[in-house]
Amino acid sequence: MQGFAGKVAVITGAGSGIGQALAIELGRSGASVAISDVNTEGLAETEERLKAIGAPVKADRLDVTEREAFELYADAVVAHFGKVNQVYNNAGIAYVGDVEVTPFKDFERVMDVDYWGVVNGTKVFLPHLIASGDGHVINVSSLFGIFSVPGQAAYNSAKFAVRGFTEALRQEMLAAGHPVKVTTIHPGGIKTAIMRNATAVEGFDKEALTRTFDKKLTRTTPEQAAKIILDGVRKNRARVLVGADAKALDLIVRVTGSGYQRLFLTVVKRLVPNAH
Ligand SMILES: NC(=O)c1ccc[n+]([C@@H]2O[C@H](COP(=O)([O-])OP(=O)(O)OC[C@H]3O[C@@H](n4cnc5c(N)ncnc54)[C@H](O)[C@@H]3O)[C@@H](O)[C@H]2O)c1
Repeated sequence: MQGFAGKVAVITGAGSGIGQALAIELGRSGASVAISDVNTEGLAETEERLKAIGAPVKADRLDVTEREAFELYADAVVAHFGKVNQVYNNAGIAYVGDVEVTPFKDFERVMDVDYWGVVNGTKVFLPHLIASGDGHVINVSSLFGIFSVPGQAAYNSAKFAVRGFTEALRQEMLAAGHPVKVTTIHPGGIKTAIMRNATAVEGFDKEALTRTFDKKLTRTTPEQAAKIILDGVRKNRARVLVGADAKALDLIVRVTGSGYQRLFLTVVKRLVPNAH
């Protein structure tokens, strides 16, 4: 893909799924990549694949919730590659559980990774992106950052927050005249390990939901998702909807307004009968 040669890109959660596919596609397109994850096994696989392509790569274990480690990491990446142009705040976790029965600690854990991880990554790299003269922040929200469904309040909250944060940042960069573009990513169902890696409230049949997710809710591969995301980044889109499902459901939400809630409840009840 054009437009990435010579760029230095940082990708969190690069040991699996969308992050791994983004790293490989960026490497193939001529970018140097700094990859990180808490999953060191997956990270090592991504690193090997990048080395096989011949892409310059720096791989580190990084937990996006650890702010001080993130600050040191940003300095280390700049010291290694000399600059940073793009930051893909991609690391994320899923959780299933109704508000009534979800413990506070699970709301906080999801928020820590999915929201604060994005804020940490944006803030620690922002000065470096401005200094590069050609920066781009790419924050991964979700289709669940556009509409809510029952059982996803924790994840919905974090992904709506990522969207709010990122849309404000885009306007701020424009207002300040900083050379930093900003894009929010809203993937629909992507065939990754996210549901297998997810946790759920006690007693919830996560295996059944994982089967439904794998068979019925995901049509787009991580490789296709990465290509769509990078095309949106190249075109400096404010918002990238990933997959036909994302486009269709976004349209339904815009047309129906809050009316989507009743409609989607019926669909969710049919697709995931054990959730409620
Ligand atoms: N797969 C989907 O259908 C889908 C849909 C919408 C949004 N998303 C979002 O896309 C992003 C990537 O998810 P994916 O589908 O590739 O899932 P995945 O589980 O395959 O990959 C996520 C990666 O993030 C890493 N991670 C988790 N917690 C971390 C932490 N604290 N610090 C660093 N790394 C951490 C995991 O180890 C994993 O390697 C997430 O933000 C997710 O919410 C996914």
